[in-house]
Amino acid sequence: MERCALGLIGWGTVGGGVVDILTRDAALFRERCGLDLYLKTIVTRTPARDRGQKPASATITDRVDVLLNDPDIRTVIHLVGGTTAAKDLCVACLKAGKHIVTANKALLAEHGDELFALAAKHQVTIAFEAAVAGGIPIIAALRDGLVANRIEGIYAILNGTCNYILTRMTEDGKDYGAALTEAQELGYAEADPTLDVNGTDTAHKLAILARIAFHGRIPLAELRCEGIDKLTAQDIESARTMGACIKLLAVAKPSTRGLELRVAPTLIPIDHPLASVNKNYNGIYVHGSAAGPTLLVGQGAGALPTASAVLADVVDVCTGRYLATASRFQFFTSAHAVPLLPESDEVTSSYARFIVADKPGVLAGITGLLSKQGVSVLNIHQGTPNQSGQALIEVSTHPLKSADFFAAIHAIDQSGLTLKPTVTLRRL
Ligand code: NDP
Ligand code: HSE
Repeated sequence: MERCALGLIGWGTVGGGVVDILTRDAALFRERCGLDLYLKTIVTRTPARDRGQKPASATITDRVDVLLNDPDIRTVIHLVGGTTAAKDLCVACLKAGKHIVTANKALLAEHGDELFALAAKHQVTIAFEAAVAGGIPIIAALRDGLVANRIEGIYAILNGTCNYILTRMTEDGKDYGAALTEAQELGYAEADPTLDVNGTDTAHKLAILARIAFHGRIPLAELRCEGIDKLTAQDIESARTMGACIKLLAVAKPSTRGLELRVAPTLIPIDHPLASVNKNYNGIYVHGSAAGPTLLVGQGAGALPTASAVLADVVDVCTGRYLATASRFQFFTSAHAVPLLPESDEVTSSYARFIVADKPGVLAGITGLLSKQGVSVLNIHQGTPNQSGQALIEVSTHPLKSADFFAAIHAIDQSGLTLKPTVTLRRL
């Protein structure tokens, strides 16, 4: 039986999940993998804090050098968020010749090139299954299970916090702020939840998936990203009346003119499989050239689901499997940059909600301007006017170039036909 000393840096939500599993289920790893995994050193800024956990084997310290200078510890579980201290700690571990297992997607999306080059230099590896979609083994699926496929599209819900908020707003009429507080209490949100709700966390995860699926560097700064922080109860209600729901959707779709890559709140028909992915669950719909569509669903955030992915990587690293696979594909060291499709060239179905005065000629004016820009209407609906004589006009379009759709919206907003700026959403 191989005895494997592990270091852990960061004893928060996910770190706590790792400690739980290793405390309760260490026998699983002995039986299934022939590995006697144990935590030798835990590094935290607050070693004295009572976490209700007592890993018998571990020294708990705020000194990272204890771990760095211990030749027994060859694998470090890195569960510190952010990109500053987290990066320094990662660099120090790599330079000390330690393999890294991390859940930190921001770190990899922003500094992956540099960190993977450093790992290669020191002949160690960085494993990151937990960085995307929590407990769902999507990295392994793209890297290994779907290796025989050209990836023709990825449509994914990748943020548990946003999906939890949207589910609570849709199913329970919960207020946005209260739903966010619940997601934080459940351990789903980032330390700074702005990164969740403004779409940045999903963009980080999408960049990592795209890197694996399309074999090249992804220009993160060009990745278009909108969050859920501007959605209103009216958006949720409009979706419901259209037989749809709103999800924060990550899309990666290759074309000869570039990779369409974006994160945006999107209307999804209620009978689409992704529509029933709720709460902290994530769902990833991958179209492969050979396998066709594959849907992976599971808990995308939370202590134990994420720790499950962390420990899958620990096993792969400790058995040497990960190093062999990762070096074969050179994920983060490819020099080739994947060109992104400009937004104006994207072809999607869209939705617009106009607020207008209830008077003759308004509907005709709007449809006229849509038609002038070549927008083909899929359906149109005018609500009963309110007491102030304001009415909603909702339009869904057939797929068309985004440039044409937004030109039409701009023309309508400039025309004086609308009383408020028009709300738009994409449709799946
Ligand atoms: P937490 O904020 O709960 O925990 C992070 C821990 O890092 C804190 O407990 C803190 O411990 C420790 N820490 C911070 N700075 C240092 C430092 N300089 N040295 C040592 N320890 C430090 O975060 P999570 O556990 O939720 O997330 C950890 C990582 O996993 C993040 O990158 C996150 O994005 C990612 N992730 C989180 C998921 C989730 O569901 N929560 C799911 C998937 C990924 P202390 O204050 O005690 O020092
Ligand atoms: N804050 C992230 C989420 C954690 O809510 O999805 C998982 O990466």
